[in-house]
Amino acid sequence: MSSSIATTAKNGADQTTIRSSVSSKAAAHTPFQIQALPSLHFSLLANPRRRRDPPELLREDVCRRRILLPKKRLESKVALVTGGAAGIGEAIVRLFREQGAKVCIADIQDEAGQKIRDSLGGDQYVLFVHCDVSVEEDVSRAVDATAEKFGTLDIMVNNAGITGQKVTDIRNVDFVEVRKVIDINLLGVFHGIKHAARIMIPNKKGSIISLASVASAIGGMGPHSYTASKHAVVGLTKSVAAELGKHGIRVNCVSPYAVPTDLSMPHLPQGERKDDALKDFLAFVGGEANLKGVDLLPKDIAQAVLYLASDEARYVSALNLMVDGGFTSVNLNLRPFDD
Ligand SMILES: NC(=O)c1ccc[n+]([C@@H]2O[C@H](COP(=O)([O-])OP(=O)(O)OC[C@H]3O[C@@H](n4cnc5c(N)ncnc54)[C@H](O)[C@@H]3O)[C@@H](O)[C@H]2O)c1
Repeated sequence: MSSSIATTAKNGADQTTIRSSVSSKAAAHTPFQIQALPSLHFSLLANPRRRRDPPELLREDVCRRRILLPKKRLESKVALVTGGAAGIGEAIVRLFREQGAKVCIADIQDEAGQKIRDSLGGDQYVLFVHCDVSVEEDVSRAVDATAEKFGTLDIMVNNAGITGQKVTDIRNVDFVEVRKVIDINLLGVFHGIKHAARIMIPNKKGSIISLASVASAIGGMGPHSYTASKHAVVGLTKSVAAELGKHGIRVNCVSPYAVPTDLSMPHLPQGERKDDALKDFLAFVGGEANLKGVDLLPKDIAQAVLYLASDEARYVSALNLMVDGGFTSVNLNLRPFDD
C-alpha cells in the first residue's frame, strides 16, 4: 500500500509530492496534506516528540527514509567519466564525487588521472583506467573494471573529445585527421553507450550522458569534422534513447557554449590574444555570447551533467540540453531590441 504527502511551498512556485510506502497499519490513516511547509514544519515532522498525533508508522517511515533531509544527489551511485583527467571531465568527476558517487576516470592522460584520483581520497572512491575511447576493447575494459571494483555502473558520461586541426579551406581537408575526430567524438561515444548498456540493461536502469556542443546545433563553431561528429552524437543519443527506454535507461546529451579548457583555448583567434590567455578567452567568448555578465566555466557544465545523472531527471530522456545562455536559439543581427 502506498500513501502520499503533498508539500506546497508558500509562494506556490515549488510543489513537491513525496510518495512513501507504508505498512497496512499506517495506511489505515488517510493520506494527509501539509500546506506551506516551511523549515519549522520539516523539523516538527523529523522530530517525533514534537509532533502532535502523527500517524505513527508513517512518521517513522518519513524519518527512516530521510526524505525531508538534504541528501547527496548521487549517493550510492557508480559513474564512469571518459576524458575525466582534465577540463570539463575533471569538473564532472569532482562534482560527482562531492555528490556521493564512486567514479571511474577513463582517459589517455595517466598521470593527470591518477593525480585526481589521489586528490579525491584514492582508489576506495575513484578508479583510474587508461582508456582510449576510440578503441572498443579499452572502453569495454574500463566498464568492466568499474563494475568489478564498485559493483555496478549507474551513470556513463561520454565526455572525451577533440576538435581536430583548424582547416579554413575544405580543399585542404586531411581525411586522416577527419577519421581521428570521428573515431574519438562519435565512435568513442558509441563504444561508451554499447558497453554501458551491457551493465545497465540487466539492471533495468541507468543514465547515459554524452558531451555534444553548440556545434551539434549550428555550423561555424569549429572544424567541419567536429561539427559533423557533434551533430551525430545528438542523432545517436535520440536513436539509443528510443531503444533503451524499454529498459528504463535514459540517454541524453549536454551541449556547451565555449568553456575555457585545453580543447577550446588554442582556438582563440590570433587578433584576440593579448597578455592573459584565460582573460582574453573569456572576454572574446563573453563578447559573442547572448547571456552577458556570466563566464561559462567547466563547473557549469558539470552541474548540467549532474542533473541528468541524478534521479531529479528521472523522466528526462533523448534531450540535448543546451548550456549556451541562449546562443543557439537567438539571432540579434536584425537588432529588434535596439532603441
Ligand atoms: N571546452 C569547450 O568549449 C567545449 C564546448 C562544447 C563541447 N565541448 C566538449 O566537451 C568535452 C570535453 O572537452 P574539454 O573542453 O573538457 O576538453 P579537454 O581537452 O580539456 O579535456 C578532454 C579530456 O579528454 C581526454 N581525451 C582526449 N582524447 C581521448 C581519447 N581518445 N580517449 C580518452 N580520453 C581522451 C583528454 O586527455 C582530456 O583529459 C568534449 O567532448 C568537447 O567536444 C567542449
